[in-house]
Amino acid sequence: MARKIGILTGGGDCPGLNAVIRGAVWKGIKKYGFEMYGIENGWKGLVEGRSRKLELEDVRDIISKGGTIIGTSRTNPAKSEDILKKAMENYRKMDLSALIVIGGDDTNTGGYHLSKAGANVVGVPKTIDNDLSGTDVTFGFDTAINIATDAIDRIRSTAESHERVFVVELMGRHAGWITLEAGIASGADIILLPEKPFSLDNLMLRLKRLRHEGRKYAIIAVSEGARLEISKDTGSLVFQDLDKDEYGHVRLGGIAKKLSDEIEDEIGWESRHVVLGHLQRGGNPTAFDRFLSTRFGIAAIDEVAKENYGVVVCLRGTEIEPMTLDDKLLAQKLVRDKYIELSELFQPDL
Ligand code: F6P
Repeated sequence: MARKIGILTGGGDCPGLNAVIRGAVWKGIKKYGFEMYGIENGWKGLVEGRSRKLELEDVRDIISKGGTIIGTSRTNPAKSEDILKKAMENYRKMDLSALIVIGGDDTNTGGYHLSKAGANVVGVPKTIDNDLSGTDVTFGFDTAINIATDAIDRIRSTAESHERVFVVELMGRHAGWITLEAGIASGADIILLPEKPFSLDNLMLRLKRLRHEGRKYAIIAVSEGARLEISKDTGSLVFQDLDKDEYGHVRLGGIAKKLSDEIEDEIGWESRHVVLGHLQRGGNPTAFDRFLSTRFGIAAIDEVAKENYGVVVCLRGTEIEPMTLDDKLLAQKLVRDKYIELSELFQPDL
């Protein structure tokens, strides 16, 4: 009898998820003779026992499609015994012999808990933020930085025509990779990262310097999680809204508007803000992400075939390798000092 393999996608969606699913399902059926099942809406679907069989025809044409054909959610079995118990019950009821879990730290931590409870789990790291320590690159990141770079290129022409400052807010939570790479690639004048708290005074001085040098417009790329320096108590001062979503994640946002308002008030340079938001996550993956994601999907199903469980497949250099799932693998990877220096090289001096 064919082995039944489940596959789920959890957390925020990410360009390339469908290519991972396609790679795993294709090789699972064609090479290993598995029956493949898509668990609907991430861990939520496993808890509610919702899945559907995936055939070759279901995945044949999905490589260019953004999002995830099996849906996602932020439900996390690591957060509640009840959720974990139900997920495990349904894993058994569905008669799965293994589960491929595609997600970020929360989703893979869920996978870790499920594997401790007796399930056979293989993880695939995913996030547009590129902030997982275990893997050199996550798929979806390349698409996000290309979308952001293109957006800032477009903003440049209108900024120049109107002689305005534009403050562009980019995703990434507490890691500045998207802002760093899209900021450099689009030639932003000032790049503000969460890893390096900044001062408003310095920012205004730099803008004044730019103006003094004859520059008619300016572009600031700011991470949604960038922070102001100072404050004796906390070491930094938060400058954005800090609402939480229903799963307890801080929903960052608002820093671009606040900075834009400050710039107009402080130095009288007409200023606008743009929040790129979920545009960075939507739409078709780049060719780079399609190929990388395909490799991730194939690597995951190969580990299932080898019955090598409790691992996450990670890109190490040029190869994708199985790594034992632990805290270090899922720890946040922040922008290192040498890249912070690089981001500062092109901005106006004080
Ligand atoms: O982690 C990916 C990410 O897109 C972050 O960059 C962003 O802060 C967050 O998810 C947004 O989450 P949601 O889709 O729940 O608003």
